[in-house]
Amino acid sequence: MATPSTWTVPIHGNYHGYYSKRPSVRDPRLALLPPSIFAAARVLDVGCNEGWVTCEIAQSWGAHKVVGVDIDDSLIRSAWRRRRTVWSLQEPREKAQAAPSTDSRKRRRESSEILPSIQPKPEYFPMSCEHEFGSLPIPPSDIRGRHSFPHNLSFRTADWTSTDIPEDAERYNVVVAFSISKWIHLNGGDETLKLFFQRVYDVLEPGGRFVLEPQAWETYAKAKRMDERLKANAKKLQIRPDDFGTILSEIGFGPPQHFGITGEGGFRRPVDLYTKV
Ligand SMILES: C[S@@+](CC[C@H](N)C(=O)[O-])C[C@H]1O[C@@H](n2cnc3c(N)ncnc32)[C@H](O)[C@@H]1O
Repeated sequence: MATPSTWTVPIHGNYHGYYSKRPSVRDPRLALLPPSIFAAARVLDVGCNEGWVTCEIAQSWGAHKVVGVDIDDSLIRSAWRRRRTVWSLQEPREKAQAAPSTDSRKRRRESSEILPSIQPKPEYFPMSCEHEFGSLPIPPSDIRGRHSFPHNLSFRTADWTSTDIPEDAERYNVVVAFSISKWIHLNGGDETLKLFFQRVYDVLEPGGRFVLEPQAWETYAKAKRMDERLKANAKKLQIRPDDFGTILSEIGFGPPQHFGITGEGGFRRPVDLYTKV
């Protein structure tokens, strides 16, 4: 496998500045999901890129523990920086406890499970604060608690289709795979994609959820033009994104729940949820 320093084009979808094209602190894909899904959950975000979605799950959705994994180490370094930024912009805990924000009150009402602690408001401080004064130090986990943000969040570099990360051994309640299936498919072919789905199944607890945002087949054409190897791989692909539901059911997942389609322009994609039965 090529090392990141030899990647001249983002053949794994390892775009830098991805979230400037797909902006928002509140990711619309997460907003489609039932609020209770991440509450008190152990979550793996595969292909976390610069960690924006991963940070949101850890900060605002009441998750117990969240791990983001990406094949590109430079993106993982950015993800750690993002964690620090998100922490620096967050409402101080004393304020949040004194007056829970309307948002957090609404979330708790909507959620069938009570979130573990009062959620401080994200983006309480403007970005200019961090620019001018630098990031805020993160207090030790024994003061804030191992399962509150940002201590409930970590990142790893790995090609997760072939490499275990230590957190896998504990298993997860939710695995998120947003906009990554095409890259796994084009790089590794049908077999690697099936292996990836099987690995997701294996690391989930019974009843665990797989949240998948697959890219449409039509979008493979542009992606494969990036690289001769991807072009050659694409010719051999038999599986199409429309087949994913069948493959996942053969592995042991229940029927998908479709939560709708969101995103702008070329990013308009469905968000589907599969449960390990
Ligand atoms: C298009 S980005 C999507 C980022 C993020 N999931 C989102 O939708 O907001 C795909 C990401 O998957 C990562 N990726 C691709 N193949 C991977 C693999 N085998 N293991 C881990 N990460 C991978 C890429 O480096 C890239 O950051």
